[in-house]
Amino acid sequence: MGDDILSLEAIGMTWDADRGAGRTVLDGVDLRLGRGEAVALVGRSGSGKSTLLHVAAGIAVPTAGRVVLVGHDLGTAGEEARTRLRRDHVGLVFQFFHLLPHLSLRENVALPGWIAGDDHARTHERADRLLGRVGLLDRAGDAVGRLSGGEQQRVALCRALLRGPALVLADEPTGSLDDRTGREVMDLLLDLTRQEGGALLYVTHSRELAARADRSWLLVDGRLRAEAAA
Ligand SMILES: Nc1ncnc2c1ncn2[C@@H]1O[C@H](COP(=O)(O)OP(=O)(O)OP(=O)(O)O)[C@@H](O)[C@H]1O
Ligand SMILES: [Mg+2]
Repeated sequence: MGDDILSLEAIGMTWDADRGAGRTVLDGVDLRLGRGEAVALVGRSGSGKSTLLHVAAGIAVPTAGRVVLVGHDLGTAGEEARTRLRRDHVGLVFQFFHLLPHLSLRENVALPGWIAGDDHARTHERADRLLGRVGLLDRAGDAVGRLSGGEQQRVALCRALLRGPALVLADEPTGSLDDRTGREVMDLLLDLTRQEGGALLYVTHSRELAARADRSWLLVDGRLRAEAAA
């Protein structure tokens, strides 16, 4: 139990609670993720999936409940500590990739390593290895701004995985990819999670991709329901 990578306990989230009738998006969400575990999150547009990932990452502060990330209670950690925990333990793959268009693929992937002061040579080696896994090593020196949307998504994925994060949070990581590339990206995410003993929480609209997780949850009316195995 104490080994959970992520634990969400009775999470509630009401947006704009201070402005009269707030919008309650999460209402008693409990979720635990252990080492090597992959969990899929599905649900209709607007059901709160991205909100839940933001809460898990410590980017959004829930209005109720407790978030524990690798043994640290995010509620009692200050903003600075939350940022450090996120940087050291979480890999984020969000809908907008936030890549720097003028930097190369390799530089974009290596960036979190530079910021954290990791060894340069090892960072570059790992960046290239990841780019190889997503079929983009031959373009490692190109500017990211010239890539297609799906290619950029794969670069963003490599960047998220660079520092071997304990927890990967991925919001529709295969959203702009064709079926085959989407499956390959999912393979990479699942492989790395399972091999490196991390945990993965990903949002998807694809039943096929959700079925590849160890567990799949449906977010409805602010709560998680177990999805019947596909
Ligand atoms: N920063 C915010 N401030 C106020 N309301 C927000 C904020 N972020 C999200 N919401 C609201 O919370 C609800 C859930 O949004 P969220 O982005 O979590 O849904 P989602 O399940 O990820 O949807 P989609 O599948 O379309 O990405 C929406 O009604 C949205 O307007
Ligand atoms: Mg979303």
